[in-house]
Parts: sequence; structure tokens; C-alpha cells
Amino acid sequence: MKFCLLAFSGLFILSSNAEDMIDYRSDILPIMKEHCWKCHSNEENVKGSLALDDLDEVRESQIGTYNLIRPGNAEESNFVERLLLNSSDTDFMPRKAEKLPEKEIEKIRAWIDQGAVIDAKKPTEKEQVWVDKAGGGGASAMPSLPEYLTWTNQAGKSIEAVFVSGTPDSVTIKMRNGKQFQIPLSSLDSESAALASKLTKQ
Ligand code: HEC
Repeated sequence: MKFCLLAFSGLFILSSNAEDMIDYRSDILPIMKEHCWKCHSNEENVKGSLALDDLDEVRESQIGTYNLIRPGNAEESNFVERLLLNSSDTDFMPRKAEKLPEKEIEKIRAWIDQGAVIDAKKPTEKEQVWVDKAGGGGASAMPSLPEYLTWTNQAGKSIEAVFVSGTPDSVTIKMRNGKQFQIPLSSLDSESAALASKLTKQ
């Protein structure tokens, strides 16, 4: 543990950007192909008027403030609610199949919370606002979701971890393996230390 902390005390950050942003085309579509295709694709069958392989249709008809997929609001998106139901529930999806692995449901939730962007590399005007947010371009643009950020230490070593909490002189972050570390801001490079302070104040 001590060793880890030492190795770690050299951390830093690069904010995430459009490349890291979860989008439908690269991250969600493969999950849909695996679990939903036979009932929700023009390729096979379109049940419930939901064709998950028609990206323009998904963007225009299924994504919106009052639609199945509500940008920035996975919590109230029926699309997610159905995945979370008990598999014996009549509204449960995927119908007659097993519940999606938690990791995939989490990814779908995160995608929606990040704005449900179809293609981060070719965003529409509306989507661009979300891509900018994920880009962490300014103080006001930090995403509110737990998100893996890059933290760099004074020595230039970096790791990816989620911001958990902060104090005026330290920051607690959580790595992908679930381990949490409290790091003195003084051991971070200036960019990472500034990020920690900014997140702490939010
Ligand atoms: C075996 C067929 C089948 C599979 C597989 C399936 N669905 Fe469905 N789905 C249906 C049917 C039938 C309906 C329409 C009836 C209903 O709304 O419950 C539906 C409806 C829906 C709706 C509601 C559409 C609306 O406009 O209200 C959503 C959302 C949905 N499915 C998501 C999914 C997702 C996501 C997957 C994959 C994880 C999936 N479904 C897999 C059969 C399926």
C-alpha cells in the first residue's frame, strides 16, 4: 500500500476530450448489436418502432428531453429503466434474454449522462455543447459524472482515476481497481493540482 502511494504520489492530469467521450457509434452500438439486434434493427427486426442501427433515426426520434433517451439524464431515461428492471418484468429489456452485465449498463448510463452523443467526431450543433463539456475546456465545463481523469505528478508520471473528494491541500481519487488514494496537492503537477482544487470547490 505504501509502495503504491509512493508510486502514485507523482500524479497529474489531462482533462478528457472528445476522444475519450462515450458516444453511440463507438461505445454503445457494439452492445446493442450483441443484445438487441434481433428485435431492434432494420437488419433483422424492428420491434417497438425502435431501430437501433439507424443512427439518424435514433438521434432524431429516440433522443430528447422527453424521449426514451434523455441527454444528461440517464436516471429518467426509459431506455435505461428497462435494462434495470427485474428480468421477470414485462417491460424488461432485452426481452427473453439475460440482464446486461452491470458494466455495460453503466456505460450506457454514462453515455446518456454525457449527453447521448451519436458520434463525438461528427457532432450536430446540439451535441457539440456536450462534446465541449466533456472536453473540460473551462472551469464551468467539468462533467458532473464520475469520470476517469488523468492525474500527473511532479515527476510527470500519470494515472487515470476518478475524483472522489478534496480538501484545500489534498485530493482523494479512485482508480479503476476500486482503490482510493489521498494525495497531497504538493506532489501533483500544477495542472493536476489546479484540477483538484477546481473539483473540490464544485
Ligand atoms: C426478443 C426481442 C427483443 C429483444 C432482444 C430486445 N427487445 Fe426491446 N422491445 C421488444 C418489443 C417486442 C418491444 C415493444 C413492446 C414494449 O414496448 O415492451 C420492445 C420495446 C423496447 C423499448 C421501448 C420502445 C418505445 O418506444 O417505447 C425499448 C427502450 C427497448 N425495447 C430497448 C431494448 C434494448 C436496449 C434491447 C437490448 C439490450 C432490447 N430492447 C432487446 C423486443 C425486444
